[in-house]
Amino acid sequence: MTEVLALDPQQPDPAGIARAAAVLRAGGLVAFPTETVYGLGAHAMDPDAVRRIFAAKRRPAEDPLIVHVHDASLVGQLAAAVPPIVDVLAARFWPGPLTIVLRRASAVPLEVTAGLDTVAVRIPAHPIARALINAAGVPVAAPSANLFSRPSPTRAAHVLEDLDGRIDMVIDGGATTVGVESTVIDLTTSPPGILRPGAITLEMIRGLLPDVCLRPSRTDESHSGGMKSPGLLSRHYSPRAALTLYEGLASEVVARMSADAAEAVARGSRVGIIIADEDAAPSPSDSLRVIQLGRERDYDALAANLYHALRSLDTAEVDLILIRHFGDSSGLSTAIHDRLTRAAAGRIVRVP
Ligand code: TXA
Ligand code: MG
Repeated sequence: MTEVLALDPQQPDPAGIARAAAVLRAGGLVAFPTETVYGLGAHAMDPDAVRRIFAAKRRPAEDPLIVHVHDASLVGQLAAAVPPIVDVLAARFWPGPLTIVLRRASAVPLEVTAGLDTVAVRIPAHPIARALINAAGVPVAAPSANLFSRPSPTRAAHVLEDLDGRIDMVIDGGATTVGVESTVIDLTTSPPGILRPGAITLEMIRGLLPDVCLRPSRTDESHSGGMKSPGLLSRHYSPRAALTLYEGLASEVVARMSADAAEAVARGSRVGIIIADEDAAPSPSDSLRVIQLGRERDYDALAANLYHALRSLDTAEVDLILIRHFGDSSGLSTAIHDRLTRAAAGRIVRVP
């Protein structure tokens, strides 16, 4: 059985936190909210506990985990070397949605890093995550708390959808605020590269690290050519239904989506459409679900609502999801576009 522990996201009850921390220290699995998505935590220095994460998620062993700590002074225990730029980035962006890849210290089990000589480290900002990691007193390895290939969870109910009975505990701290996973930056290469865009944007990092670049994203699933960040595989963010991304001028895109949806419904399919609040929504029916994700330029809201929308369409058992493109490649819209491109796995319609 998975115990559900409800805690106040701003002021979590210390007794509850202590109980969850004891589960972690004993080698158990605890899902908890971070500001990005829910993580599935385990004692990072306990190889058996870390193996349990992979088993619970059905995650391939070659996909490395992020190690979460409470304070930047602890990074030196995880990394073989901490270049000065880490302090600069930490002072600006930690605690927060930034993950930094460094050379691995030998103390970090290879189970955590999937055999790599690098380790990914993050200090989350969510009060529950901070209290839990602090109380555990050990580094906490935590991938997103979903089954492999499902959208990341942004609510405790999403965690239970995927992992009920497979983990010891989930702390319910309500919906997460950011809604997409942390930015991952690799400082072991020159120039440093952003492996996964997130709420700490390229523009923000560039102010401190002018030569940082966005690594070209991969959309194939082959492991050839060196898998730099395996979480960048397309299947990572996929709902069960086939998702198609529509790009182009909003009004034309939405008209085309509505027409395609009507055609698919006429053929007997169940369809979900995801558009912006401003868009002209087609009339919903039993076979046609319509979700208005947020204002078209409100990237914070769009990101916060995205995975819940994808999961709710899966729950409604649609066969197809049609979603419009959002954003202008600035700020968080880069991360939204990145996740949608991967979920689409090549199913992209450019209008006209
Ligand atoms: O926001 C987040 O980052 C959430 C919360 C729970 O912290 N965690 C998360 O973990 O999204 P996960 O495992 O779903 O994604 C971790 C990403 C993957 O793309 C993985 O390949 C990459 O980080 N990663 C981990 N260790 C790495 C390493 N040593 N080198 C390169 N990429 C690494
Ligand atoms: Mg994940």
